This record gives sequence, C-alpha cells and structure tokens, in this order.
Amino acid sequence: METADRTASASVIVAIDGPSGTGKSSTSKAVAAKLGLRYLDTGAQYRAITWWMLTHGVDVSDAAAVATAADKPTIVSGTDPAAPTITVDGVDVAGPIRTQEVTGNVSAVSAVPEVRARITELQRTIAVTAREGIVVEGRDIGTTVLPDADLKIFLTASPEARAARRSGELRGKEAADLAATRAALARRDAADSSRKTSPLAKAHDAVEVDTTELTLEQVIECVVTLIEEKREKQPA
Ligand code: DC
Repeated sequence: METADRTASASVIVAIDGPSGTGKSSTSKAVAAKLGLRYLDTGAQYRAITWWMLTHGVDVSDAAAVATAADKPTIVSGTDPAAPTITVDGVDVAGPIRTQEVTGNVSAVSAVPEVRARITELQRTIAVTAREGIVVEGRDIGTTVLPDADLKIFLTASPEARAARRSGELRGKEAADLAATRAALARRDAADSSRKTSPLAKAHDAVEVDTTELTLEQVIECVVTLIEEKREKQPA
C-alpha cells in the first residue's frame, strides 16, 4: 500500500507477526517506545469485536450472524506504546477483552471474512496516518494488512516456551496450569493458521526470529537493531 504521506526519513512501518506466547506484544511495545514509534495491537481489535458480539447476544458460532453485525461496533485503538488503549462504542474494554470467554471465541469471530475486512481497513488507516511510524503486531500484518511494510518480523518459539510464558502472564488472574495453557494455545494456533482468510503466516520477505532461548531484552535489542539497519538504508 502507498505510504507517501509519511515523513520519509524518520518514519518506518514495522510488521511483527507470530503465534501467541512468542513475546510479540511485549517486544512490539518496548521497541516502539524506544524508537519513538506508535504501537498497534491488532489482536486487541479482534478481541474487542468478539467482546461486542458476546455482549450483544450474537451467536459467534453462526458466521452469517457475525458477518451481519461486523460493521456495527465502533472500535478505537490508542497507539501510545506507553499506554495503549482500546474502546468499543466509547467503553474501555482493555480488561474485558482478556477474559477466557473472549479468548475462547476470538478465533471463530476473527475467521469471518467480513470481520477481517472491517478490522483490516481500520488497521491500514491507523498505520498510514502514524506520521512518526508504527509497530503493528498480529498474525497477518506482513502478508495481508501491510504487505509493503518497511520491515517484517516473524517471531517463533517452541510450544513449551510459549505455554510457559503465557502461564506466567495469567498467573494470579486466572487459574491456568501449563498443560491446559499449552492445549489452549495449540487449539487457537491451529484455528488461526488454518482459516481461509488471511491465516497466521510468515511473509516470504519476513525476518524470522526464534525467541525460545532469548530473554525479552535480547529480542527487543535484536528487533531494534533490524529497524535501525533498515532506517540507515532508507533514502533521506
Ligand atoms: O494476539 P492475541 O492473542 O491477542 O490475538 C487474539 C486473536 O485474534 C488470535 O487468536 C487471532 C486473532 N488475530 C488475527 O486473526 N489477526 C491478527 N492480525 C491478530 C489477531
């Protein structure tokens, strides 16, 4: 897509994709904060539309019903990496979108093409209007949403490492043991990778970073270096 209205020398669009538990959110937020870029969590947008469907009594197993309702909620994402926000029809849903109910239904809702079309359009608008540049994290950013991103990163990690990280994040909020977390992650990844419309996938020109043996700080450093190298090569 065209990015001509961005400030060429400073701004950069970075796509960070990968499955859950690879450290995408923590990495993307920290990298954006370090480099003065905006930050967009696209998973939060799919969670927000899922929350809206659930609270408005839409049967999320009925793809036609979800498609009909897809353009009804107004979803607004705040892109400050120090304090990202998400509202639906003016309601702050940052907490409610992290419940097990939303997590368990988000793959079904986000597989509906009308939902993807709606959210993808929103994401593109946010990305091209971020004059200082932006880090956009998700599943299909490099392949579908922003195929012309300046830099594409695909984060991976072993299933064990991903489940351990996700359990750590949930501790104290919801009782999730490692085996259950691992099974739930595997189910969600399988659904997200096998859906027909823009599945979770590595773009052919993405740089793959395996985070299994790396600390969060090391992953952040690696991505910052990749962005700086890219910026140096960009024409001023
Ligand atoms: O990153 P997350 O776990 O918060 O994402 C929640 C779900 O949203 C994920 O299971 C699949 C969906 N998603 C998607 O389909 N496309 C994206 N770009 C981001 C998330």
